[in-house]
Amino acid sequence: MKKFSVVIAGGGSTYTPEIILMLLDNLDKLPLRSIKLYDNDEERQNRLAKACEIIVKEKDPEIEFLATSDPEAAYTDVDFCLAHIRVGQLPMREKDEQIALKYGVVGQETCGPGGIAYGMRSIGGVIENIDYMEKYSPNCWMLNYSNPAAIVAEACRRLRPHSRVINICDMPIGIENSIAKILGFESRKDMTIRYYGLNHFGWYTSIKDKDGNEYIDKLLEHELKYGNVAAGENASDFTDNSWLETARKVKDIVTLDPTHSPNSYLQYYLFPDDMVAHTDPEYTRARQVIDTREKSVFGECARIAQTGTSEGTSLQIGIHASFIVDLATALAYNTGERMLLIVENNGAIENFSPDAMVEIPCIVGKDGYEPLTVGKIPTFQKGLMEEQVAVEKLTVDAWIEGSYHKLWQALTLSKTVPSANVAKKLLDEYIEANKGYWPNLK
Ligand code: NAD
Ligand code: G6P
Ligand code: MN
Repeated sequence: MKKFSVVIAGGGSTYTPEIILMLLDNLDKLPLRSIKLYDNDEERQNRLAKACEIIVKEKDPEIEFLATSDPEAAYTDVDFCLAHIRVGQLPMREKDEQIALKYGVVGQETCGPGGIAYGMRSIGGVIENIDYMEKYSPNCWMLNYSNPAAIVAEACRRLRPHSRVINICDMPIGIENSIAKILGFESRKDMTIRYYGLNHFGWYTSIKDKDGNEYIDKLLEHELKYGNVAAGENASDFTDNSWLETARKVKDIVTLDPTHSPNSYLQYYLFPDDMVAHTDPEYTRARQVIDTREKSVFGECARIAQTGTSEGTSLQIGIHASFIVDLATALAYNTGERMLLIVENNGAIENFSPDAMVEIPCIVGKDGYEPLTVGKIPTFQKGLMEEQVAVEKLTVDAWIEGSYHKLWQALTLSKTVPSANVAKKLLDEYIEANKGYWPNLK
């Protein structure tokens, strides 16, 4: 049986250990001969690398392990690149969030001005990694979940249209786990879903069981009362309090449109005032992640490196990350699995721009993916999506052309920003904060 070689780009990410644990837990599905970590911040990656090596060798000493900041060593002889880079790292995420909040606007990683600012940093880093992959392993697939995925996906479509890159998001996995609990399914894999939208901006329209029975009305009825919190669930069932609040907020989104079950990220576009009111500008999500996930992952990795064993570790397999194995397995073994991917619309949503990057179900096999058709979508969803997709396209235009005006227009058009005046103030402050990360804008 063929064994595969994987490189994790953004090896210093807080998600790297859980992805390695997940890969090692699935060696029967996807046998591996090599796991490499690649990061352009060697020092940060080294804080995780020794522990990752110990974990890999404990599972199977025959799997080659390498942590490097040399692109050639990283990208030579690889079958899959799992890419989760964060250009500017968490301190820049904090600036994205705080600058927006200073003007009373949503301060979030991927939604609104924060997402636009992050997009302007991310595009170059992702393209750089695609180019290394194509140079050193032209047959490799990149499974890319570097954020902001919508803007990154549009940049890939424009700048590297023929590259073997698949843009994905784990949010639907998290939401489907909740939906499965709400509806009493043992696993989300017992459900066949229909979903459409943009990344972090979409809706479920059908949830069926294996026999083809429809559950969407039952789901909507629950969501109208409790959001995405299942009966008996409490804070400990969620990653943290902020994700519990997000699941609850689904109730308000469904109240606005009781025909569609939303991705909870829509809260930032439909209730930006509530989101701002509930965010402490002195302690945004970035700082929470630095104080919790980053601290615990790096702390635990240091402990493993020091003791030389991962016995009794608190590190856990990334359940959400299981879709990465599903996707790699579908590509490697032509399984034809149905998965939500971010792909060019190309008529799948009949009454929506063919050249928009949309998140829709696709069938995945050896040669990549084939999107399923969605048909016509209603005016409310279409209107929201048209505005948002224009924001994403204008951001990519601004990056490619170095255009101040295009970025000002992108910010102005975002549903989260109240006026062109505010957009200009935001833009000027983001330009200052992102010196060295953004292209020069004229
Ligand atoms: P992190 O800051 O902990 O790690 C990211 C790493 O990327 C850092 O070590 C950084 O040095 C590295 N990096 C930056 N630019 C690079 C480049 N050009 N080449 C190689 N490495 C580079 O971030 P995190 O919180 O662990 O998140 C990682 C990424 O994954 C983020 O983009 C985040 O938004 C994304 N994410 C996406 C999903 C999804 O579903 N799409 C889910 C979780 C996280
Ligand atoms: C979900 C989304 C990701 C996002 C992450 C943020 O998993 O799909 O795109 O990066 O949440 O989580 P955090 O804990 O960093 O706020
Ligand atoms: Mn996501």
